[in-house]
Amino acid sequence: MHILGIETSCDETGIAIYSEQDGLLANQLHSQIALHADYGGVVPELASRDHNRTLLPLMEQTLAETKLSLNDISGIAYTAGPGLMGALLTGAAFAKSLGFALKIPTLGIHHMEGHLLASMLEEYSPEFPFLALLASGGHTLLVAVKGVGQYQLLGETLDDAVGEAFDKTAKLLGLPYPGGAALAKLAKMGNPKRFHFPRPMLDHPSLDFSFSGLKTSVLNTVSKQDNMDEQTKADIAQAFEEAIVETLVAKCLRAMGKTGFSRLVIGGGVAANQSLRQQLQSALKRNSYEELFSPRSAFCTDNGAMIAYAGYLRFKAGQSDKTLDIQVHPRWSLESICFLNE
Ligand code: KG4
Ligand code: ZN
Repeated sequence: MHILGIETSCDETGIAIYSEQDGLLANQLHSQIALHADYGGVVPELASRDHNRTLLPLMEQTLAETKLSLNDISGIAYTAGPGLMGALLTGAAFAKSLGFALKIPTLGIHHMEGHLLASMLEEYSPEFPFLALLASGGHTLLVAVKGVGQYQLLGETLDDAVGEAFDKTAKLLGLPYPGGAALAKLAKMGNPKRFHFPRPMLDHPSLDFSFSGLKTSVLNTVSKQDNMDEQTKADIAQAFEEAIVETLVAKCLRAMGKTGFSRLVIGGGVAANQSLRQQLQSALKRNSYEELFSPRSAFCTDNGAMIAYAGYLRFKAGQSDKTLDIQVHPRWSLESICFLNE
């Protein structure tokens, strides 16, 4: 079985091929950063047009890398949501037309399920059950995972997603879009003793998150500075990152205690953050849990490999689209895609 995976939920076109026998065969990514940079964020219409321009040549490039032909593909998985409506439609229409022409099944995949399963593409791969922390530009979720399609949402953000908080803070500090990785780089040069920001919802017993207060606190600090020199920016970035990381680590540990699980998996763009990975790793060690399961950076941020892999697992479980209708879900709860919940 060879599954073609297509990701177009936001500002990256990702195409990959996953083989049942040989694992991931090819994984191509086209980033739209340069296209949106002048606007300081993603412009949805430009994103859709760029996906349309990119999909066909990128698929041909992906196939060429594997020496496979379209006739070797047995199923097509595409991101059906959540994400930008127009961007999702480009991938869904492409996948469904191709599936129709080749007479092979297609399947719409939940983007966050892709992130949730991405660490299973690695050699050091988690077994079920595990706790998943998913942190991206649009979502912050703590999920109890008992198997493919067996997801229980334990906590989520009540306002901004972590990645969104990173991006907005980066913008306040004058960093270019997309700000998360740039802020993390700047934070490395920061003095940890200069600023201190609140740890949101840490004393709250639930597993939910809230990051908008932290963002306001950074805004107040920034507006009080007479001189926003590079060192001050780095010090603020450091204190911001520390507040986020400490909050995420504490909530993960609390969720591990509540579920009794011994494995923690991370996914989503923010999971590429080095400080978060290191601090989760040491917290797990201190508490005698298994080592952290974290995808390589390229599988944390958006990619086609995770969609091909999620599609492979679901096709294997007998799933596929039931109609030829092109359906996407800009907002879509992870729990609604569970198919094996007891
Ligand atoms: O999963 P992703 O690539 O796209 C969405 O599904 O949203 O996540 C993108 C988010 C952005 O907010 C970006 O700033 C953030 O992940 N991000 C990071 C890092 N790399 C990407 N945040 C913190 N540290 C990083 N190293
Ligand atoms: Zn994502």
